[in-house]
Amino acid sequence: MTMTSQIVGCGAYLPERVVDNDELSKRVDTTNEWIFSRTGIRERRIAADGELTSDLAFEASKKALESAGIGADEVDLIVLGTTTPDKTFPATATAVQRMLGLKNGAAFDVQAVCSGFIYSLAVADNFVKAGQARTALVIGAETFSRILDWEDRATCVLFGDGAGAVVLRGSEAEAAGPDGHGRNSARGILSTHLHSDGRYSDLLYVDGGPSSTRTVGHVRMRGREVFRHAVSNLSAVIEEALDANGMQSSDIDWVVPHQANKRILDATVRKLGLPPERVVTTLERHANTSAASVPLALDEAVRDGRVQPGNLVLLEAMGGGFTWGACLIRW
Ligand code: UT7
Repeated sequence: MTMTSQIVGCGAYLPERVVDNDELSKRVDTTNEWIFSRTGIRERRIAADGELTSDLAFEASKKALESAGIGADEVDLIVLGTTTPDKTFPATATAVQRMLGLKNGAAFDVQAVCSGFIYSLAVADNFVKAGQARTALVIGAETFSRILDWEDRATCVLFGDGAGAVVLRGSEAEAAGPDGHGRNSARGILSTHLHSDGRYSDLLYVDGGPSSTRTVGHVRMRGREVFRHAVSNLSAVIEEALDANGMQSSDIDWVVPHQANKRILDATVRKLGLPPERVVTTLERHANTSAASVPLALDEAVRDGRVQPGNLVLLEAMGGGFTWGACLIRW
């Protein structure tokens, strides 16, 4: 029996507090003009004191289940991508499990920084396709504001907090032959592609952790070098995903990218020859929410009706490690 997995619901949650670039310019030596022209960011959401990653994840999960019309009791797997867990352990996914009133199935976190949602989706997709789970909640949730050095203007202006979630459901695959153009016409997650390269760990990292400094630490980044790697790694993994499915970039209806920098998004789609209108962009209002950025953008594009059944949707992300990946979905 061949199993397929399909996203049957999406949800998102953003903390209430909006911090715009002008507010940041009172805190560090920066300007709205510099931030917007270099990144495309105008504002970000910041979690309230006491509002934890699990709280954001729980709210997004409830909405995803609601939109799927599926009761929480049907969930038998929770995979949560985060780099800002509530605690070093237990996994934040188990807090979400508790908040949803569940005690069965498996729940765990995945740490792949900004690629965390793509990694989590790939893990859940494989669980579902292997028949080890039937209904998975896949979440990207971050309170990145907690690991920022608010004195470092080169990083603190770039990030925000938020969460997004999807419900992934397994079903027996229908026999789906090639479409009229010889391409795969199956619905659901067509393929996932993950990569990492630990040689670049010093370009984007947190300078603390339980085993090294026994502190939480702060984000450190060599932005220009990360930028260069991001464009070439993302272009390569998108080509890989298209090749694996016998498709071309012109087949893509929507690109839902990790939202790190508008110039990275523009350069990546330009390389692919795709019009910028096909790219879902939330960066201006959300900034970089790390593992939450892809599911936040996906939720927006599904809810406002841009993503329609039958559309080919490409998700992609790159983050610290380096880690990067892509996922091709027939909606
Ligand atoms: O999600 C994980 C992946 N992360 C990324 O993809 C981030 C990738 N990198 C980037 O998005 C960009 O490299 C940044 C937006 C971080 C920086 O843009 P840049 O054009 O690469 O600028 P830069 O780092 O080369 O800095 C240029 C100048 C420097 O001043 P000098 O040395 O030329 O005098 C910085 O000190 O801009 C200065 N600068 C700022 N000025 C005003 C850095 N941050 C700021 C700031 N406000 N917030």
